[in-house]
Amino acid sequence: MLRKSSQMAMDYMSITLLTIVILSPVSAARLTPLSIIQNPIGPVNIFDNSKYGLLHLSNGLAQTPQMGWNSWNFFACNINETLIKETADALISTGLADLGYNYVNIDDCWQDITRDIKAIPESKTFPSGINTLADYVHEKNLKLGIYSSAGVFTCQVRAGSLFHENDDAAAWASWGVDYLKYDNCFNLGIKPIDRYPPMRDALNSTGRKIFYSLCEWGEDDPALWAGNVGNSWRTTDDINDTWASMTSIADLNDKWAAYAGPGGWNDPDMLEVGNGGMTYLEYRSHFSIWALMKAPLLIGCDVRNMTAETFEILSNKEVIAVNQDPLGIQGRKVKVTGTDGCLQVWAGPLSGNRYAVVLWNRCSEGGTIKVSWDSLGLNSSISVSVRDLWKHKDVVSDAVGSFGVHVDAHSCEMFVLTPKLSHFREEKPYINRIDSYQRKTGLTEVVQTGIGQLDGIYVAIAVMDFQ
Ligand SMILES: *[C@@H]1O[C@H](CO)[C@@H](O)[C@H](O)[C@H]1NC(C)=O
Ligand SMILES: *[C@@H]1O[C@H](CO)[C@@H](O)[C@H](O)[C@H]1NC(C)=O
Ligand SMILES: *[C@@H]1O[C@H](CO)[C@@H](O)[C@H](O)[C@H]1NC(C)=O
Ligand SMILES: *[C@@H]1O[C@H](CO)[C@@H](O)[C@H](O)[C@H]1NC(C)=O
Ligand SMILES: *[C@@H]1O[C@H](CO)[C@@H](O)[C@H](O)[C@H]1NC(C)=O
Repeated sequence: MLRKSSQMAMDYMSITLLTIVILSPVSAARLTPLSIIQNPIGPVNIFDNSKYGLLHLSNGLAQTPQMGWNSWNFFACNINETLIKETADALISTGLADLGYNYVNIDDCWQDITRDIKAIPESKTFPSGINTLADYVHEKNLKLGIYSSAGVFTCQVRAGSLFHENDDAAAWASWGVDYLKYDNCFNLGIKPIDRYPPMRDALNSTGRKIFYSLCEWGEDDPALWAGNVGNSWRTTDDINDTWASMTSIADLNDKWAAYAGPGGWNDPDMLEVGNGGMTYLEYRSHFSIWALMKAPLLIGCDVRNMTAETFEILSNKEVIAVNQDPLGIQGRKVKVTGTDGCLQVWAGPLSGNRYAVVLWNRCSEGGTIKVSWDSLGLNSSISVSVRDLWKHKDVVSDAVGSFGVHVDAHSCEMFVLTPKLSHFREEKPYINRIDSYQRKTGLTEVVQTGIGQLDGIYVAIAVMDFQ
């Protein structure tokens, strides 16, 4: 068994060091798709997570993208402890908590402008203290998130945590905080790579597991370095409640797809669904694409007062399941046609040999959008069943080669595609080039890994080639 796989790996490249680990099918599914493709046919390899996993934070959190609510997009600075409690109540009473929305995140403005040794809550708006609020939220089986900045002040000029990392982290841990969003204002021009790791270490040294969400606005391409710093990292500037902002942010976030995975996610910012600046169909696109991109699903509206349409979008279990799929590979833009490429196919692999596909019409008129199997790296003779995640129905049982539908302007349709399994037997391990970097010694170390199925057993292979 081992000899056979090493010979196969040898066929691919010269090797100085080869490690083979036998995996259970479940752990194999977590690392890479079970349906291993040898030669992705399309121009975009939707399985490419080759930049993920070399570095990542081992606090055990973020195995799937975080879900919950954050105060900023709707309330900005108009927050207080009553609002936070009522929001926790509403997450429970609406059933959103049961669907996975379990973080209740307080954004900027909870702190006082001045600080003690540690940051202190503003007495006017949070008179009972954050620990009381954490107890309230925990009693409902929810988690509490807090906010600060890797600067001397927060963006709204409250006390920041730069140079106070240990004191603030210790305070938050003692209050029972579960999540930190860490912003980038008043940073004294110090590079993010020097300002964000100290808070990672401070959070770690409290011994409490605290989700660490980096908000450095994508300025220094955090995907390249934040994998071992935080559980998610913003890839862009702030979203606003417009179609133009949402679409441009989706495109910017797409670039970093290969860097995301369990433990560390690209963050294109929080949801605007329900805030009034986009139509129902535009919000449906926003939610579908965020789910496909394995973005955090942090609701940004007033959940105490949602319309039926807002609730329908945010509570779509099948779309949420795509976001929370254990395989954890970010879906991406795979094909565009039409004027300025406004008819778009976005897709990504799911566990169980399935694919999620979003047909997204960003044109000003309706049009037909088609996904062809070759853009998924699938043999075009394979028969595929198609489920519509917004109609909640199986629409076709045996599509071959491609599948297309009419999509309204500024709308999307979202599907799960399930190829007939018998076509998927794969005998050779697929070896995927992971990374190449200069070591301090000056040698180039090429690290390659892959998952393969051999005689029904999944194996992980890591190859290091010193040149
Ligand atoms: C702290 O970091 C260590 C090493 O990366 C890790 O094993 C541990 O789980 C972390 N602890 C917390 C509380 O995050
Ligand atoms: C708390 O904040 C909410 C939302 O901004 C506001 O409607 C409410 O009046 C505030 N309550 C208090 C006591 O300030
Ligand atoms: C919203 O974002 C768009 C696109 O980034 C930008 O052009 C626009 O100025 C922003 N609008 C507001 C009100 O900030
Ligand atoms: C609830 O939302 C509607 C708009 O959807 C708004 O007109 C109304 O004022 C809101 N009510 C409260 C209590 O915030
Ligand atoms: C697709 O599958 C068919 C039937 O199994 C096979 O004959 C053909 O060679 C495959 N095509 C490609 C490009 O792999």
